[in-house]
Amino acid sequence: MDRIKRLLLENVAWAKGKLQNNPEYFKSMAEAQKPDYLWIGCSDSRVDPSELTNTQPGEMFVHRNVANLVVHTDLNLLSVVQYAVEALKVDHVIICGHYNCGGVKTAMGSASLGVIDHWLRNIKDTYSFNRFEVDGIKSETDRVNRLVELNVMAQVKNLANTSIIQKAWNTRPGLPALHGWVYDINTGFCKSLVMTRSAEDLGAEHRYKFD
Ligand code: CO
Repeated sequence: MDRIKRLLLENVAWAKGKLQNNPEYFKSMAEAQKPDYLWIGCSDSRVDPSELTNTQPGEMFVHRNVANLVVHTDLNLLSVVQYAVEALKVDHVIICGHYNCGGVKTAMGSASLGVIDHWLRNIKDTYSFNRFEVDGIKSETDRVNRLVELNVMAQVKNLANTSIIQKAWNTRPGLPALHGWVYDINTGFCKSLVMTRSAEDLGAEHRYKFD
């Protein structure tokens, strides 16, 4: 079967199935969204946030990019974060990396692959800061996976350093909580690496002042 046709046919089957269970499903869904979570994850097709957390449409606001990075010049990400935090008032932001991440693996090498070089530069910096620890690990898989974890922790810190999050903490102390997770493609389990609710907590280097 045509691979695109398949998607549209599956969509019809899915919509009909939802209506069978609850004739008001789409009517109530269309009214508003009130998600509790913002998910920042990798674009990897195997790391599907709603699938692996068993959450339903409407529960999770999602942003994905290669290697789940929080880059301070990324207007796309910053717009998502601002909307999720200030308009939707999510209580939790989850940054979720995954072991065996192709983006992280590529960033550890020296191949030049075009535009992605610039994006992955952010991970190369984290690698440089932690070179001693990472290079001391014997197996290549473990080296990549350790950098995956360090990358998640660096991105949580990047997020804590944004004026958006610090302004939120100023007005709603402790909210949103920022979580750093790593997903294991081999087992299906997520591991929590870090959780922070304040700039002091994580040692965010920069503190904004708000009146
Ligand atoms: Co990845």
